[in-house]
Amino acid sequence: MMNPVIKALNFRHACKLFDPGKKIPKEQIDMILTAAHLSPTSFGLEAWKYLVISSDAVKLTLRPACWNQPQITDASHVIVILSKPGLVDPSNEYIKLNFERRGLPQDVTKAYIEKYKHHMETEVFPRMSAYAWCSKQCYIGLANIMTTAASEGIDSCPIEGFEKEWVEKVLNIDTKQYEAAVVVALGYRAKEQPERRRHSIDRVVEYR
Ligand SMILES: Cc1cc2nc3c(=O)[nH]c(=O)nc-3n(C[C@H](O)[C@H](O)[C@H](O)COP(=O)(O)O)c2cc1C
Repeated sequence: MMNPVIKALNFRHACKLFDPGKKIPKEQIDMILTAAHLSPTSFGLEAWKYLVISSDAVKLTLRPACWNQPQITDASHVIVILSKPGLVDPSNEYIKLNFERRGLPQDVTKAYIEKYKHHMETEVFPRMSAYAWCSKQCYIGLANIMTTAASEGIDSCPIEGFEKEWVEKVLNIDTKQYEAAVVVALGYRAKEQPERRRHSIDRVVEYR
């Protein structure tokens, strides 16, 4: 029997054409969001938010900001994954609270915070912005959303083809707190998906 996750991954395609008449039931949307909620984040920071859009009016205003891609209006739901880059600065009180919530002895908590600060200053910030770092975590949520949806026979399309500032403007995002990381459309395919295109596995996997 095929592993159920591999089965879901085989079902998943970047769906270009959704059936606009088919809506995802609320329980399944909730389940998909649970998968996002259970997704890991570096240091457990959860510096993200999942904005779930089912309103046709909102989808209509969002579509031109997303390269006018029809998935935005045809899909049943569109999830805009927002990163929260302001949270992750080592000086932010949130970092202290994040480590304290582990309930570890005070000296261990202090050591964790120091380790975090050092990691951010030496590895993360020299290479990328806080927005980019938080967005990496958002893509883990994205992947779990797509796989969980696929396991329920629900199609998806990950969408990076958007103009960030435009998206934030039409959705009235408080950009002091949140920034759009990535978008995913969810619904049901209108026709069969084209054949999968992948390089051979030997080209992308190396064993040592
Ligand atoms: C981060 C990300 C962004 C993407 N953005 C778009 C997009 O804006 N529009 C689109 O039609 N497909 C988009 N795709 C889909 C890819 O083109 C697709 O996943 C790839 O060609 C492989 O095809 P498959 O997902 O059907 O296996 C995106 C995929 C990823 C992972």
